[in-house]
Amino acid sequence: MSPLNAAIIGTGHALPENVLTNDQLEKMVDTSDEWIVTRTGIRQRHIAGPGEYTSLFATAAARRALDMAGVDPAELDMIICATVCPDMMLPATACFIQSALGAKRAAAYDMAAACSGFLYGLTVAEGVIKSGRCRTVLLIGAELLSRYVDYTDRSTCVIFGDGAGAAVIRATEAPKGILAARIRSDGTLADYLYTPGGGTRYPASEETVKKRLHYIKMRGNELFKVAVRNLTQISREALDELKMAPNDIDLFLPHQANQRITEAVTARLGIDPARVYSNIDRIGNTSSASIPIGLDECVRAGRVRPGDTIMMASFGAGVTYGAVIMRW
Ligand code: ACO
Repeated sequence: MSPLNAAIIGTGHALPENVLTNDQLEKMVDTSDEWIVTRTGIRQRHIAGPGEYTSLFATAAARRALDMAGVDPAELDMIICATVCPDMMLPATACFIQSALGAKRAAAYDMAAACSGFLYGLTVAEGVIKSGRCRTVLLIGAELLSRYVDYTDRSTCVIFGDGAGAAVIRATEAPKGILAARIRSDGTLADYLYTPGGGTRYPASEETVKKRLHYIKMRGNELFKVAVRNLTQISREALDELKMAPNDIDLFLPHQANQRITEAVTARLGIDPARVYSNIDRIGNTSSASIPIGLDECVRAGRVRPGDTIMMASFGAGVTYGAVIMRW
């Protein structure tokens, strides 16, 4: 490891109080609890109420992470909010978080890498810390995908949930932190998962609303196959870089997209399923928030201990994908 390492020293998460169960969805669209559980592993998801917005949950998650780290917001050099569900088109949601926290010294901006946003953000945080430009970075994955989900489209509305997870990353000379970070994308598959309306290509108009262009469109079945392939490949590359075997990993924390994707990737990598974390049954797919929410749950439950090796892997719209291995 280089003399300066980037280590997570605090984590936190926040979820909306309101829960949407499969039973409730059965009354909204033509689906069943049995179909959703067997095809995705999801039993419920948290959904933001009216008047709630992304930066509220992001700020709550950030406060918990800062508390755990014992870091004052004034010490933050950079705030990255990984999100595809910003409070507004302008300015960055990270600026609202900065203001709420009173993190006066920090640079603040958003990162739009969909479900891979947290791992893209970790990779950037590692870079600015190792270069010596920043000492302390706050990274948040926060999404309110329910605002973009078409609740008449059964193939997407059963999957997504809302929430936020955060991590404080700090420079350390101790032999811990990020060991390998790989991120990649394949823009030729952009139309596998996209929200066409509201940008410069289809600016918001009566017509775009009528055509339901502001909702998420997904080619789920094709995406499933690419997700399994890319998650497996990028995880293998990260392991190979460190000359590690799959079961040198104490905790595998994949993006929670679909329980069947997690199981297929785990089997292909040959990781002992007892080392794999899953919370998709309670939380659904929260995009960039899913890995930091899972990480915080593991940290608070004592599932990760100092010296443990953690591998995180993600896949999302773009398509984007990545894998990060770190020593706790
Ligand atoms: N309830 C009941 N039936 C359904 C539902 C539902 N909620 N959704 C789809 N079906 C039906 C389909 O209409 C289809 O019926 P047909 O055979 O009569 O045509 C049948 O079920 C099978 O459909 P598939 O799409 O082939 O089902 P699949 O097993 O692939 O599961 C799913 C669909 C859950 C969407 C899966 O493909 C998946 O998880 N894909 C990956 C999603 C993902 O990872 N997203 C990317 C990350 S998210 C991000 O970046 C923001």
